[in-house]
Amino acid sequence: MHEVKPFYQQHFGVPPAWAVRAPGRVELLGNHTDYNQGLVMALAVDKFIHLAGGPRRDGRIEVVSTAFPTPARFSVSAMTKEEAAPWADYVKGLLLQLQRRGVHFNGFNAAIHSTIPLGAGLSSSAALLVATALLVRKLFPYRLTETGVAAPPSPDSRGELPPLATPEKLALAKVCQAAENQFVGVNCGLLDYIASLFGKAHHAILIDCQDLRVEWTPLDGQAEVVICHSGVRHALADGEYNALRRHCEAAARALGARSLRGVEAKDLTARQGQLPEREYQCARHIVGENQRVTFGERALRAHDLAQFGQYLYQSHESSRDSFKNSCPELDLLVELARAHPGCLGARLTGGGFGGATLNLVATGQVEDFRRVIAQGYEARTGRKLESWPCRIVDGAG
Ligand code: GLA
Repeated sequence: MHEVKPFYQQHFGVPPAWAVRAPGRVELLGNHTDYNQGLVMALAVDKFIHLAGGPRRDGRIEVVSTAFPTPARFSVSAMTKEEAAPWADYVKGLLLQLQRRGVHFNGFNAAIHSTIPLGAGLSSSAALLVATALLVRKLFPYRLTETGVAAPPSPDSRGELPPLATPEKLALAKVCQAAENQFVGVNCGLLDYIASLFGKAHHAILIDCQDLRVEWTPLDGQAEVVICHSGVRHALADGEYNALRRHCEAAARALGARSLRGVEAKDLTARQGQLPEREYQCARHIVGENQRVTFGERALRAHDLAQFGQYLYQSHESSRDSFKNSCPELDLLVELARAHPGCLGARLTGGGFGGATLNLVATGQVEDFRRVIAQGYEARTGRKLESWPCRIVDGAG
């Protein structure tokens, strides 16, 4: 928070009325399962979007960011995309969705400061959507229900609102998803928003995307999570993501299931011949990932990190060979990680086609791991590797 408040004051001439923050997230296990009504494990990590804001009375909104020189200025009644400030599309997309659900708000000023590295697969966009929703709630209290809005919560004597209840968090996650799907054009699932909202320090979040059940299991002690950023993002990644989603949905339809969640591994094998090869490969990845999350949860609850790490490697192999959302740089990072004695497991994380790998590394070996992987990566690709050890933190607030 410390940087965003002075930045706000410097730009708008008064201190902000409120400040909120939303963490980035890492997908621990369960790749592309979320929009297939499947199972996924995630972590909220200690990289944040900080957002400070204050009301104004003229129906105008002005948003500034420490990362971009030009402010975004628009009106509550005319929120359209603007090429000069595409980062503000997330704010606008979210505000439009809130309006559509019946939330009333007026103009405001806001300042953004992010410590989430861009393009590294930690979902800075989801964190910005979540933070925007929370800031608007501070400024113009609202309570989302599954279908619209209910009477807003009352602030306490210090002006603080009660914490968000689980159904409200889930409704918010859906609003964020709709913003990203409709305004930004990526047909992503709910994983990123749920992870940012439901994070719990030292715990992995388990999400069942079919009934939206959220649970937690401890993940700390003998291992740490390290993110390695490949430094590449393939140009067609958004289009590829949407194409994978279409393959998965087509496979489910061909199998007569509402989603791939309802498909058992043995039935899929038995009916392989009824599916085009590409759809079969995608379905095999998703069905396998759901199984790995189930087994992975069991391993974590038994504190068997060595076994858990094996599921991470298997997940990567399935992404590389079946789902085909890896790339040479991510494969190399996993290969280098596997050769390090301190590494328990590694895999690509998030959408794929570039971005980052997630590595589970024995405590005490983290610095050596980062050094060795960086050396190997630079020697083979000429690229400098950025890597981050992650602390697992509480969700947005
Ligand atoms: C991206 C999307 C998520 C999820 C992951 C893959 O991060 O935003 O919804 O689909 O990819 O698991």
